[in-house]
Order: sequence, then C-alpha cells, then structure tokens
Amino acid sequence: MCGIAGYIGERNSPEVLFDMLERLEYRGYDSAGVMFIAGRKINIIKDKGKVSEVRSRVKPERYKSDIGVAHTRWATHGVPSKVNAHPHADCKNLFAVSHNGIIENYVSLRRELTLKGHKFQSDTDTEVISHLMEENYKGDLLTAFRESLDVLEGSYALAVLCVKEPNRILIARKESPLIVGLGKQENFIASDAPAFMPYTKEIIILNDFEYGFVEKDRVEVFDLVSGKKLKKQKSKITWDVKEAEKAGYHHFMLKEIMEEPDAVSNALKASGELKKIASRLKGKKRVYFVACGTAYHAGLTGKYLLENFGIQSEAVVASEFRYSTVDTVDKDCGIVLISQSGETADTIAAGKRAREKGAYVAGIVNVVGSTIARLVEDVAYTYSGPEIAVASTKAYIGQLVSLTQLALYLSLSSRKISVKEFERLQKELKGVSGKIKAVLSDGKIREIAEECAVKKTFFYIGRTLNYPTALEGALKLKEISYLHAEGYPAGELKHGPLAILEEDVVVIAIKTGRHLEDKMDSNIQETKARNARTLIVAEDGEIKVPRVDVLLTPLVNIVPLHLFAYYISVLKGLDPDKPRNLAKSVTVE
Ligand code: M6R
Repeated sequence: MCGIAGYIGERNSPEVLFDMLERLEYRGYDSAGVMFIAGRKINIIKDKGKVSEVRSRVKPERYKSDIGVAHTRWATHGVPSKVNAHPHADCKNLFAVSHNGIIENYVSLRRELTLKGHKFQSDTDTEVISHLMEENYKGDLLTAFRESLDVLEGSYALAVLCVKEPNRILIARKESPLIVGLGKQENFIASDAPAFMPYTKEIIILNDFEYGFVEKDRVEVFDLVSGKKLKKQKSKITWDVKEAEKAGYHHFMLKEIMEEPDAVSNALKASGELKKIASRLKGKKRVYFVACGTAYHAGLTGKYLLENFGIQSEAVVASEFRYSTVDTVDKDCGIVLISQSGETADTIAAGKRAREKGAYVAGIVNVVGSTIARLVEDVAYTYSGPEIAVASTKAYIGQLVSLTQLALYLSLSSRKISVKEFERLQKELKGVSGKIKAVLSDGKIREIAEECAVKKTFFYIGRTLNYPTALEGALKLKEISYLHAEGYPAGELKHGPLAILEEDVVVIAIKTGRHLEDKMDSNIQETKARNARTLIVAEDGEIKVPRVDVLLTPLVNIVPLHLFAYYISVLKGLDPDKPRNLAKSVTVE
C-alpha cells in the first residue's frame, strides 16, 4: 500500500529513485513522484499515472542531485491526482515527505495547523507531516522530527528531506514496513527490499517506534519512546535480483505461475520449522488459521486438512478475528498466521492481540524478516521468492505445501496417522512439483479462456478441501479481470445462486479427488440443467489435472485456474500485474 523510497549517494538520485519506484510499483500505482535537493532547493517531479508514464513525462535524467525521496501511491485520502501525489512539501518548500500508512488524527492536526497559518495544497493525510516539520523546526532536525512523530496517530513509514540539512534523510516506522539498504558511500531507503536489490543486499530493518536518519556513510536509529540510540543488526537478502525481474515473460503473474513447481520444492525446505510448530500446536484445544485474501483461502484448506485427521481447527479472516474471535482465545489455543508479504495490517494486529491473550502464535510467511515473521514465536518460511504480481499465485502454492506438511506432522505426533501413511503422503507431496509442471504445459486452458472471456458471470464450486480452491479461483478471476466471480460450496448452490444460472453463466466445478464425487456429479447436473456453461476440473474433465492423493488435490486444482484467470485478463486487454484499486501489500486496515 504505497511504496516509499529514498536515496543518498553519488548516483543521480532522481534516476535511482524512479528505478526503485518501478520495483516498488506493485505496492500502488495511481501516481508517482520524486522530490530531491538541487541548487539548495527542493525540486518536485510528480504526477498521476503509473511510474513509467510519470517517468517518461518528467524525464528524471534532466536533473542532477545526490539526495531525494520518492513515492508510488495507492490512494487512501484524496483522489489520484498530481496535487495528491507524494512526496508532499510544507508552505516554504523546506521539507519533502514520503509516507506509507494512514495518519488517523490528520483532520484535527490540519485544523490546528491551518489556524496557525499553514496553507494546505492536497487532500491527503500525509501533508500534515510536512507542515508539522515546518512548525517544529527550530534548527535541530532530529528534535523537530521527534516532536512531529509524537503527535501522529495511526501508521507510518516515513522518509523526510530538509533543504537546510541536505546530507541526511530522516526515517521512521510505525506499523508500515521500512528497510535501509547499505551501500558504499551511498544508502537506500525503501518499503521493501526488491527496490534496491540491484544496488545492495545488505540491509537494516526498522522496527515499530524507531526513527533516525540516513547519511551516505552513516545510519543512526533511535527508540521513539526512550530516545535512546539503538544498535541495529545488519542482515543479508538471500534472493537474487533476477528473481524479482520478468525474465522474458510478458507479465510477472505468468512468470510466477510458471514458478509454481519450484514453489513446492522450496516450501519443503522448511520442514524442520514446521515440525517444531506442530510440536507446539499438539494438545492445543483449538488451532486457528488467521490470514487475509488468498492466504486465508490457504488457511481454510489447512482447516480441512486438519479436520481430515480429526483435529479441530478454524480458519478466520484476520479483520474479523482481531475484533471478535480473539476474545475467545487463551493460552490453550494455537494461532497460525499466514501471509505472503508478512506486512498485512489486519494479520499483524490479529497476531498481536492473540499474543496478548497468551495464545501460542506461529507464522507461515514468505518474506524473510518481515513484520509477521518477527512478531511470531516460530516462523516457517515458504521460500517462494519475491512475488511481484498483485494476484498471489506461487506463494499460495507455497502456503498449501507448508500447511500440508504442518497437518502431517501434527497428525503424526497426535497419533492420528501411522508412520507408514505419513511417509507415503510425504513422498506424494514431493512428487506434486512434477504434476504441476504437467498442468502448466497443457495448452487447452488458453482455448477455454478464449471461449469464456466474453462471459460476465462465473461460479466456482467445490466441496471440503476444494471449497477453498473454488474461493481462490473466483478471487483470482475477479481481481484481475473485473468480472463477477463467486466461489461457493457446491452443496449451497441450490440454496440461492441457482436462481441466476442460465446460458451466459460459466460454472467451474472442481470435482477431482474421488472425494464426494457422486455429490459433485449431482451438483454438476443441476448447473447443466439450467444451461450454464459447465467446465469440470477433473482427471477426465475438460480442464484436466493429474491424479494425486485427495489431500493434495488443492495443490494441482488451483494451477489451471491461475492460468485461466491470467489468460482472461490478458484477452480483455488488462494488465494482470496491476489490477485497478488493488495493491500487493495491504498495510492499512
Ligand atoms: O501478503 P498477504 O499474504 O498477507 O496478503 C493477503 C492478501 O492481501 C492477498 O492474498 C490478496 O488477497 C491477493 N491480492 C490475492 O491475490
């Protein structure tokens, strides 16, 4: 949700910053901007539109500067427009502020600042920070920053420039991610590491309530509450820069779908951590999977996996869990947070609340060192590599593999399955990578997408383990094609949705697994009888998937549905990597 960036060093900052914004664009892309210091002045180049469009309009190579901050926006307060694009300046153009998050008390702050004579240009919450800096600055930049931070309510990751001290960028973090990339005689600031991966892999991660400054050869971080200087650990990013590039594919989404076979083998690397989490979950009166969006669908699959072994569990969306379910949680509960980014605001809040209630909280996370990874007691990484497309694909496969392993370890240690059965399923799980490859090489799905791209309504139906697959297939289609798609438990169709089935509606029935097959057959007959175009995902269906154990069917069944959604989006002339109104990482509530 918005990407912020900063650079200080010997390169040309406007150009470096636009490069960084291009790599951060998955976080928001309705407008982009850079502010930099040149000729003892703050210079502003920003506009509405995608980063590449703004870049070609403003031509950053025309400028020269060694320090700047930048922003790619996902609008919360104020429509996407040039004036609302970040960074934001104060009345005297002394400060430039790049912000990710939401300042919840901005209305009252704006009123107070207006009474003091400040003139606001934009409708954003962020602009209050620039004017607060202007108000508080009496010659000591860090003190002014701390005083400004003290009155802010809400969430922020900040990169702030001051023309009077053109050798440093101020930084601060509260509930929105911020990382410093360490170079030689240069340093970088970004919401996420892919932004500076071509330049450096050495990083410092800021925690909540930390602030400080970055110079070209120095970084200092302080505790916001005590004001004490902190000794920050450096860490290394293990991803390769190529992993965060398109590698010849038209879109990141297609590249990431093609990486799904590797996502299986990569997630299997965390078996030690999953075994540990299983040992801590053993004997808990209830296991909760808590997550948002696609990660929630993975969690729902986790619930069905555990139920299959007779272990009680629930999957709850984080935005509901944090305000209600958490009240029923205590030390006898185990919570598993699931998140690709590790930065989803609702999932973070749910995890914090659960810890306060004394529950054991673990995480299945993709981004190493992210907030959720650091918040939980134990983390199992999915190691899916950077996922750039807004629609999550390979990370979902990684999450399903981790959850399957977790379910197997937990049921083995709880004596719900025999060692022999455990080993058989582990072996099958390892083989799923090859089965996914087979699905990916089948060209038929594109033809089916061509036929369906003109349709307006899609129902995805499945039962038990493949009910979440239906939800996920529908989510993928709606988010990148803007078509009406719904996932339903197949048995529920006759309780309402059947009323809208007709010739123009597509029903995708996920039938595989020899599981409740007769029941699915009846539901399929019901949809055909209403003349809906019914596509069956099955070993012998129109959408073919290979035979795997029932428990592993969610892993192969989702793959053609990923491709189906991708092709429909492309056939409709849309950009599947950057769907309208969405952002990759939802760091606001
Ligand atoms: O980073 P997270 O896994 O926590 O993100 C959760 C959701 O925001 C995410 O899965 C979202 O639903 C995706 N756009 C779906 O493709």
